[in-house]
Amino acid sequence: MISTKLTLTKKHSGSFSGDLLVFCVQQNKKGKITASQVQESKELDNAIALGDFKAEVNDSLMVYSKKSSRTTRSAKRILYIGLGNTSKNTPTELRELCRNIGGTIAKLAKNIKAGSLYLNLPGINRMSGKDVAECLVEGVLLGDYSFLKYKKEDREKPSYKGIRRINVYSSKTIKGLQNSLGLAQATANAASVARDMANEPGNGWTPASFENYALKLAQKHKMTCTVLGKSQMKRLKMGGILGVNQGSSEAPKMVILEYRAKLKNAQTILVVGKGLTFDSGGVSLKPSAGMEDMKYDMCGGAAALSTMAVVGEEKPDVNVVAIVPATDNMSGSSALKPGDIITHYSGVTSEIVNTDAEGRLILADALAYGIEKFKPTCVVDLATLTGAVIFGLGHHRTGLLGNNQPLVERVLAAGDRCGEPLWQLPLDKEYSKQIDSDVADIKNTGGRPAGTITAAAYLQKFVGETPWTHLDIAGTAWDFTKKSYIPKGPSGTGVRTLVELIRNWKKLS
Ligand code: BES
Ligand code: MN
Ligand code: ZN
Repeated sequence: MISTKLTLTKKHSGSFSGDLLVFCVQQNKKGKITASQVQESKELDNAIALGDFKAEVNDSLMVYSKKSSRTTRSAKRILYIGLGNTSKNTPTELRELCRNIGGTIAKLAKNIKAGSLYLNLPGINRMSGKDVAECLVEGVLLGDYSFLKYKKEDREKPSYKGIRRINVYSSKTIKGLQNSLGLAQATANAASVARDMANEPGNGWTPASFENYALKLAQKHKMTCTVLGKSQMKRLKMGGILGVNQGSSEAPKMVILEYRAKLKNAQTILVVGKGLTFDSGGVSLKPSAGMEDMKYDMCGGAAALSTMAVVGEEKPDVNVVAIVPATDNMSGSSALKPGDIITHYSGVTSEIVNTDAEGRLILADALAYGIEKFKPTCVVDLATLTGAVIFGLGHHRTGLLGNNQPLVERVLAAGDRCGEPLWQLPLDKEYSKQIDSDVADIKNTGGRPAGTITAAAYLQKFVGETPWTHLDIAGTAWDFTKKSYIPKGPSGTGVRTLVELIRNWKKLS
């Protein structure tokens, strides 16, 4: 990941001699472009007169003139980009609009291989300058992402290295603007790290890779990292992760990373992320079409650990513990078989009906262990857990379930604010009847009806009374609904929701 240099500038745009100078153009309540925005440029004026540029959302006009009515410009190109009519937008929509515009700017910059940008922050009614800056810059940085590690030719002769420098200009002095840029950069970087992990193939990102990343973070930010290997898992009787790992030659890891806040009596958030580095389905083998996408089955773990990079950097007033149970799900000769019965860390026994319902097995051990060991105030888990969530919610909203409504509401609000929308599904106790087993305490699938809910009902058996929410990101971790700032491939979803939740943590009673 190449990091972009963000600078708050007081210098007028005329003196910027870089690749791309960006102006945002808005419509007024009547959908018209006001004169004050137009006098900058004859070209823009002409385009408007011809009806070619209406300042609708994402309308764009690139011009190559060095002269405007006011100044002589040094920039190589000028981009005018439309924001539309924002008068009826909700606060959530306004923030999303800025990210969206930012993503479009990044795309247009890529087309012309622009490495340096000058961004004029627009003033948007009912939106603080800080929010505009944060969301716009976050959108640019998130949209600028690419993964070229395995593209040998591009790597040796890169034709474009992405946006290296952004000068941000605000005509007004806004307190805390620099800080907003920092927030945007931190979340965008963390999401990019999560995307990088996910883009790695199953033979490039293994359970040991999670371990190595966590150890590096721990060293960098003075956090505590503990990694349970196979022998410790055996001693602790973690039959879930051990069972899933049985068919594999790759060693399993339970990666634990702890951040301790300076604040006395700080509360503790436990984040658990599914780190399934490749899901073949095991003996209940998946169909081969599209199976390559199952390298993304570790996106929950990627989100959990990338979030810790921000936590380590920003040092919030809440303890955060991340646990990533990591293994792949293979079908080697000692693999788990349908009908087998395993015993989880908590002592609960489980009949394996389908070895492809493996996520809940590794999460169960991690949840039970993490809750017992760290006695957290609350738990959030993220997992690409069920195909069923895609039937229910598609590729736009993450499925959310939980046992504590105040916590659920907080996570919903966090996702809303950061542009990672979630939708709550019910978790009535009746659903858990579907996972009753004739031979063990529970079984690992509840049949076709309500697959996302019965998977959550399984997890619920391991969280007890601790406030908990489960995010099923199977529909949103990749193939995300088209958005300018989320390129094809893994989205990094969950990172920004977690960071938002942690940054603004208020005591949960
Ligand atoms: N990793 C998959 C879920 C998944 C499916 C994620 C499609 C993204 C896209 C999970 O381990 C799985 O295989 N779940 C099964 C559960 C079933 C066997 C009860 C599923 O959803 O089909
Ligand atoms: Mn599976
Ligand atoms: Zn899986």
